[in-house]
Amino acid sequence: MARRKVSIVGAGNVGATAGQRIVDQELADVVLIDIIEGVPQGKALDLAESGPIEGYDCRISGTNNYRDTANSDIVVITAGIPRKPGMSRDDLLKTNYGIVKSVTEEVVKNSPNGIIIVVSNPLDAMVQTAFRVSRFPKQRVVGMAGVLDSARFRAFIAMELNVSVENIHAFVLGGHGDSMVPLPRYSTVAGIPITELLPKETIDRLAQRARDGGAEIVSYLKTSAWYAPASAIVEMVDAILNDRKKILPCAAYLEGEYGINGLYVGVPVKLGEKGVEQVIEINLTLEERAALHKSAAAVKELTDIIGV
Ligand code: APR
Repeated sequence: MARRKVSIVGAGNVGATAGQRIVDQELADVVLIDIIEGVPQGKALDLAESGPIEGYDCRISGTNNYRDTANSDIVVITAGIPRKPGMSRDDLLKTNYGIVKSVTEEVVKNSPNGIIIVVSNPLDAMVQTAFRVSRFPKQRVVGMAGVLDSARFRAFIAMELNVSVENIHAFVLGGHGDSMVPLPRYSTVAGIPITELLPKETIDRLAQRARDGGAEIVSYLKTSAWYAPASAIVEMVDAILNDRKKILPCAAYLEGEYGINGLYVGVPVKLGEKGVEQVIEINLTLEERAALHKSAAAVKELTDIIGV
């Protein structure tokens, strides 16, 4: 089988950790690229040197030149500035818009057939930027948010019930912001909806903690999270490279699904070798649907500001 190639733009906390996990799992060769000279080269070399001990046989290299990313199967965009205490993801809008736009132009030139996974925040507006600038089909531009948000929700449910995280599935829909929509009815422990296991007040508290999950980390670290974001990226990379047809919550371009048109919002999708192979429409209560639309409206406000 031909070697697969994943390029990661932004060799900072999230990008480098995602690169580490990809080679650890021997999913693909990895190219780290950044505007800062030395950082991608140094981190990649350090990771390459741990290969003989860890036993992975993937190549990992660092560069400042997009030519080295040529013909990537997947390009992950983490370039941008992260949050500092007191900042919302939306505060990053204008700076990261400029960065994601210029990065996408390079990606299109060098990997015209690749799939783009956007991670930079504010996520939904940034993935919409990459979609518009790249002019790629919607299947090949997807945003990482729901996998992370639902992993946080799953972790909190597992802690609350003192059960294995492996028993827990959860869905969080909507934009990757304060208005994201955890769906308790579709969140289960060994197949049992949490609505049958936990009182409403507890579920509301855990859902709110998932919503604030990013900010909780920022309050400790004074910058945003990277271990769980990197894990979420790698689950999506694996689903695509191995054509797993996995159902995962991701930011996808909607054209009428859920009554939303012309906007990236977090919904369940089927991820496989073609990228977003299907948007899955699940039944929502009136209340859930209203929350999803409210979240979409918050995304639309941002995309209107930057005109994408
Ligand atoms: N091209 C390439 N790399 C860039 C560019 C650019 N135009 N602009 C910035 N970068 C790089 C920075 O040099 C830095 O190394 O992006 C990297 C970002 O890394 P960190 O500052 O460590 O940020 P990180 O925590 O990884 O978060 C990156 O992901 O989760 C989101 O909100 C987060 O938007 C942020 C992004």
